[in-house]
Amino acid sequence: MRYRRREAGEGAVRLVMESTLSARDRVGVQDFLLLENYNSEAAFIENLRRRYREGLIYTYIGSVLVSVNPYRELEIYSKQNMERHRGVHFYEISPHIFALADNSYRALRTERRDQCILISGESGAGKTEASKKILQYYTHICPTRNNTHTIRERLLQSNPILEAFGNAKTLRNDNSSRFGKYMDIQFDYKGAPIGGHILNYLLEKSRVAHQNHGERNFHIFYQLLEGGEDSLLKRLGLEKTNPQHYHYLVKGNCPRVSAISDKNGWKVVRNALTIIGFNEDEIQELMEIVASVLHLGNTQFVEDEEGETQVTTEPQLRYLSQLLGVDGSILKEALTHKKIVAKGEEMISPFSLEQALSARDSLAKATYGCTFTWLVQKINQSLAFKDEVYYSSKCSSVIGLLDIYGFEVFQHNSFEQFCINYCNEKLQQLFIELTLKSDQEEYEAEGIVWERVEYFNNKIICDLVEEKHKGIIAILDEECLRPEDASDISFLEKLEDTLGTHAHFVTHKMANGKIRKAIGQEEFRLVHYAGEVNYNVSGFLEKNNDLLYRHLKEVMCRSENRIISQCFHVDELMDRRRPETAATQFKISLAKLMEILMSKEPAYIRCIKPNDAKQPGRFDEVLIRRQVKYLGLMENLRVRRAGFAYRRNYKVFLERYKSLCPDTWPNWHGKLSEGVATLVKHLNYKPEEYKLGRSKIFIHFPRTLFLTEDALEARKQTIAITLQTSWRGYSERAKYHRIRQAVIVIQSWWRGVKGRRKAQCRRQAANTIRKFIKGFILRNEPRCLDNEYFLDHVRFSFLMKVKRNLPKSVLDKSWPRPPPSLTEASEHLHRICMHNLVNDYITKIQPEWKKQLEQKVLASAIFSGQKDCYPQSVPKLFVATRLETDEINLKILQTLGKDNKVKYGVDVIKYDRHGFRARVRQLLLTTSAAVLVQEAKIKQCIDYSALLGISVSSLSDGFFVLHIPTADSKQKGDLVLQCDHVIETVTKLAIMADKIHNINISQDRIRFAIARGKEGVIDFTCGSDLRVIKTKNGHLSVTTPRIS
Ligand SMILES: Nc1ncnc2c1ncn2[C@@H]1O[C@H](COP(=O)(O)OP(=O)(O)O)[C@@H](O)[C@H]1O
Ligand SMILES: [Mg+2]
Repeated sequence: MRYRRREAGEGAVRLVMESTLSARDRVGVQDFLLLENYNSEAAFIENLRRRYREGLIYTYIGSVLVSVNPYRELEIYSKQNMERHRGVHFYEISPHIFALADNSYRALRTERRDQCILISGESGAGKTEASKKILQYYTHICPTRNNTHTIRERLLQSNPILEAFGNAKTLRNDNSSRFGKYMDIQFDYKGAPIGGHILNYLLEKSRVAHQNHGERNFHIFYQLLEGGEDSLLKRLGLEKTNPQHYHYLVKGNCPRVSAISDKNGWKVVRNALTIIGFNEDEIQELMEIVASVLHLGNTQFVEDEEGETQVTTEPQLRYLSQLLGVDGSILKEALTHKKIVAKGEEMISPFSLEQALSARDSLAKATYGCTFTWLVQKINQSLAFKDEVYYSSKCSSVIGLLDIYGFEVFQHNSFEQFCINYCNEKLQQLFIELTLKSDQEEYEAEGIVWERVEYFNNKIICDLVEEKHKGIIAILDEECLRPEDASDISFLEKLEDTLGTHAHFVTHKMANGKIRKAIGQEEFRLVHYAGEVNYNVSGFLEKNNDLLYRHLKEVMCRSENRIISQCFHVDELMDRRRPETAATQFKISLAKLMEILMSKEPAYIRCIKPNDAKQPGRFDEVLIRRQVKYLGLMENLRVRRAGFAYRRNYKVFLERYKSLCPDTWPNWHGKLSEGVATLVKHLNYKPEEYKLGRSKIFIHFPRTLFLTEDALEARKQTIAITLQTSWRGYSERAKYHRIRQAVIVIQSWWRGVKGRRKAQCRRQAANTIRKFIKGFILRNEPRCLDNEYFLDHVRFSFLMKVKRNLPKSVLDKSWPRPPPSLTEASEHLHRICMHNLVNDYITKIQPEWKKQLEQKVLASAIFSGQKDCYPQSVPKLFVATRLETDEINLKILQTLGKDNKVKYGVDVIKYDRHGFRARVRQLLLTTSAAVLVQEAKIKQCIDYSALLGISVSSLSDGFFVLHIPTADSKQKGDLVLQCDHVIETVTKLAIMADKIHNINISQDRIRFAIARGKEGVIDFTCGSDLRVIKTKNGHLSVTTPRIS
């Protein structure tokens, strides 16, 4: 398997690299490991030169970055360039400081190991610039948390403040850091910067009171004078833009530098102070201290005639007392007298002029020095990560940035250079420890076949300086403590006595010939790993003691300036113990620094200064060769070439990459070394690419590792998906189980509820049945508890039955059969119901229909049960008349007149009284009479009043006889008529003539009057069909069919 190439938008990156490679002749190699002749220093320097000429200031030695100061702005630090380097491996792109920064950052995130980036090189080589670039890179590319943009800003803004107070123009560098700085940038587990911490080392305080020719004091003094607002300067008692007036600023005779804009610097510092979180009062007090240092410098003394020293500059004194918030007269006394405590008694003795000047300078230095320390603390408070709960070593990691003064050689080297160069020896020692020495020791321990590389181990020099009792620092401290008259010279002599034979130590007295000439009488020479340096001992004791007169300290303790009062503690005055000397303090802090650095994974930037003139494009070979030599770059290269770029414990290696091989994934159960062997075999590592040691794997080329990393990166996706799937599966299953459990609980509860309800129902049902049966048994007993349910039920069901089966009409006779106990009630109800129906019926009835009914009712009263043909007539409706007006002769109508209107007419047959001849006639019933009509002739008219009665038979014939009084001569006797509508006609006649009670229904014979005293008879019999004949006895015999 070979790995996928990284593809994402890095085409541009790849182009840069390839063009770089194709132009190798012109620009040299980007990694010294690729040099053919890697043992040749000339080839090394030639490669640097080629690249420098092309503006390529960065070159690798494996993972070490070599940087040559371009002394001009290059366009390689843009935001786009930062983006390009994000997540890109070393070998994929031409060397860059961002690549190194990114590599450390990635290592921090993937391996969660603290990192540190050590930037070394001599003064002016570009260390501070490099550290700033790295900080900018991190603040740009790292992800942000909600509040981390403020932290980013603060991290960035801490630089201008510290530079203003701790940097100065020197001969070597216009912006030389005069203090050492180690900064931790703290990242959370997501890689977002969340805080920072700064450690500062040995500020070069002597610069406050004195500067070498061509150098300046710290930037802040000039910035305040150039940029400070008029009102501020006035308050501070300073004169604008005139550094010449201040003694502390004129020592180097170089108040202004064209490359530095102090005015602009002031603005930047003011802004940075606000961003970091200084309030206006603090800024004010800070500036009061800066101003008071300048006023101290201008404080002058004279020796009067009595030999006492007096302050001659009262205005300065006034400003001082005002700015420092101390009593003027006390300050004055402290500046001119010292306080001696002897046998518990305090005595005051005057200073000599020289002593007064020295006291003044030491006060200025001490004040400035502790203010600087206060400033660092203040910045640290502002950068500190506040979220304590969140902060723990597990979830945050740091990248440390070390920008410490580089190796320094001046014409005149003093205590400061001694300390600075000692520090560089220590760093070189660390470098050796971490790379060269440990590399080689490790190869041996691991049994790796390896070509030994000789290198110079500078431990001997470190020991020379720091060894207990015998080292230079120990001897210096001893001299400082000596009660007798110790002096710088006595210190030099002591050094000669103790260290005279040391190979790296030489003095004027001990050297011979040529060397003796090169060393001054008051100098000692140390042969540093980086070269020889002569140190002038004058001032060593004083600087090492770093003491401020007690009297002055007391004054400062009482200061009303809050910064000063925080810096000078009364407790220190009480403490009779001697404080650690400056050199010992420095030694201790360096030891701590080494510990910090040792605990982290280092990355190196080796800065080289191409010329002393700070000019772009000038490549001073001698100067560079010296730096290449003392930085140990050739040794570094040789060890790297022979050695391995990467090594890892089998366990760690396997743990990290095991997912890339099916045999080792997810777990390897065999021996670790075999697991790693299987893994690298699967990864197709070539034999020359790696070696397997006893407990570690060694990989020759970074490229091999990077490809493996790429493969892992790609594999992570799959692993993540697998993890996600399993997790989702797991969580869904868990969820399903939870739901199922819940369902079961609900189900069982519900079943319980249902079961209980059912049981209750059954119980109720059984009770009901029991009650029912009991009730049934006792149904005939009087109502009691035992039968009331049954009785109620019977009643209820009967009533419901009634309700359901109510008669629909008045004719509907149906009615549910009531239980015996309800017979009476049932009857009542039936009656009420019928009553209602009838009522209903009646209210809805029409007038004609009413009339019809009345007639029918009457007919029923007369004929019901009396006459056979009555039932047949019931369904046939009575009509208003059987003869319409046009059927009646007009003449008849006219004769009858208006008053005698025909109400009813019907065709009848009239039988003669004598011969019973049948004749067709019309019977008309008028309002007052019954009229028999033949055509236009009125045959007979019978007034209703004259009508005696009407006779009909009980059979089904249509005969009826109208009885008329025979006494009336106008009348001819009773009228025998037959009609098809006998019931209707007789009923209507009875109504009109009001003869309802005069209707006679005979069984078989009707007698009628033929004339006065003469009677006729009609006999009625039943037969098969209708027959009307005159019998021999003179009767009319009517046979009618029987209606069954
Ligand atoms: N990468 C760079 N690009 C441009 N100029 C640089 C660069 N590095 C250094 N310089 C120049 O060199 C000067 C000295 O660099 P500095 O970092 O202060 O040196 P050191 O801290 O090593 O003493 C800077 O002020 C700047 O002008
Ligand atoms: Mg610097």
